[in-house]
Amino acid sequence: MTGKKKQLYIETYGCQMNVADSEVVASILKSDGYEICSEAANADLILVNTCSIRDNAERKVLSRGRELQALKKKKPELRIGIIGCMAERLSETLFEKLKGIDLLAGPDSYKKLPDLLRQAEIEKKAADVVLSTTETYEDIDPEHYQTGSITAFVSIMRGCNNFCSYCVVPYTRGRERSRPLQSILQEIEALYEKNFHEITLLGQNVNSYHFSDAGKEFDFPALLDRIASEFPQLRIRFATSHPKDLSEALVKVMANNKNICKSIHLPVQSGSDVVLKRMNRKYTSADYLKKIELLRKHMPDISISTDVIAGFCGETDEDHQATIDLMKKADYYYAFMFKYSRREGTAAAKMQDDVPEKIKSERLTEIINLQQELSLQNNRRDIGKTFEVLVEGHSKRSKKQMFGRTEQNKVVVFDAENILPGTFVNTVITDCTAATLKGKIV
Ligand code: 5AD
Ligand code: SF4
Repeated sequence: MTGKKKQLYIETYGCQMNVADSEVVASILKSDGYEICSEAANADLILVNTCSIRDNAERKVLSRGRELQALKKKKPELRIGIIGCMAERLSETLFEKLKGIDLLAGPDSYKKLPDLLRQAEIEKKAADVVLSTTETYEDIDPEHYQTGSITAFVSIMRGCNNFCSYCVVPYTRGRERSRPLQSILQEIEALYEKNFHEITLLGQNVNSYHFSDAGKEFDFPALLDRIASEFPQLRIRFATSHPKDLSEALVKVMANNKNICKSIHLPVQSGSDVVLKRMNRKYTSADYLKKIELLRKHMPDISISTDVIAGFCGETDEDHQATIDLMKKADYYYAFMFKYSRREGTAAAKMQDDVPEKIKSERLTEIINLQQELSLQNNRRDIGKTFEVLVEGHSKRSKKQMFGRTEQNKVVVFDAENILPGTFVNTVITDCTAATLKGKIV
């Protein structure tokens, strides 16, 4: 091929699944002659991979879209595509909202991107938002261009069948489907050969992974066990787990494999049983706490993080207090906390979004402050302990400091200048904030 390759810039919003999807998109378009570039200003094609989970996520993309419109005015040959959850949810109405957009592709339409781009050249616009029940992109080898060369995301399943009443994901990402075992193993093998040291297995609900191979059934614990024993040198993480599906088998696989990180993200959403029922979460706070007890019984040093929604429909002061109480009992080391945001088309959209904005904000502030305190206490308990840290690079603040993560997923900053990223070092923790541990190499 002669001449300069067409430049592709992908901007990614939202969850880790989107980060992984952008890598699939990069690979598909690379095969079509594009090259990834790191600045929007240099691109021939800009794709914005979007998130619909809350209204503010969508608003952010819309305002970014307007900036890109301005860029296109100066550079009419620029092509702009909106892909992912917002393309799926809003489909062609996005062409009205954001003039100058050339194409739309939903989460299951990425293989069609080359065709859509050609169609957009002829017909000015092109869109495909058809959801699939089978697409897993198993035959695409993702371009791991975003997470550096040490850690990578590996998608193992797509979609969600849980229909939590507040959540738009089952509508934007469609039905649950699992990626074939061999394709997962091949991708991990390739990452291992490229000297990656850590992988995170991804899915909206990894615990519902299911695949049969030559008459043998693989559920998530079986998959995890297989990966852990086949790649003993790799650190393995996974996300996200639905508490209702977290089994004793999974806990045992985690506990029995040294290379599975002792860390789990277990979104609770609320501590009130009435609210959990209204959210269609299918567990009570007692069920949830039992799972935490089980995890800690088998892995006393496990770190547990969560997601919490403040101000869901009908949430009373008592419900909110129940969330506070549960957060204390669960003793999370980290939490993502959000105000409830009504999503059109979900079951909760038919309920009364009756918690006033001011109360939602107050409750959110209260849980954020509580979590800040829990994180600090949690980190303080690590002072004096020694942790193995996978070095990721230099700290943003100083060239004389480097950072890495413990298997509990905590960031440790330590004095060092020339350690190769990807090296494992032992550090003893000497100090901390709520967000980071400070360590010394031993
Ligand atoms: N409003 C607020 N938070 C939400 N989440 C999902 N849907 C909503 C919504 N409508 C949160 C949940 C989920 C995380 C990814 O986003 O806590 O676990
Ligand atoms: Fe949304 Fe619930 Fe599915 Fe998670 S499990 S993606 S919160 S519907």
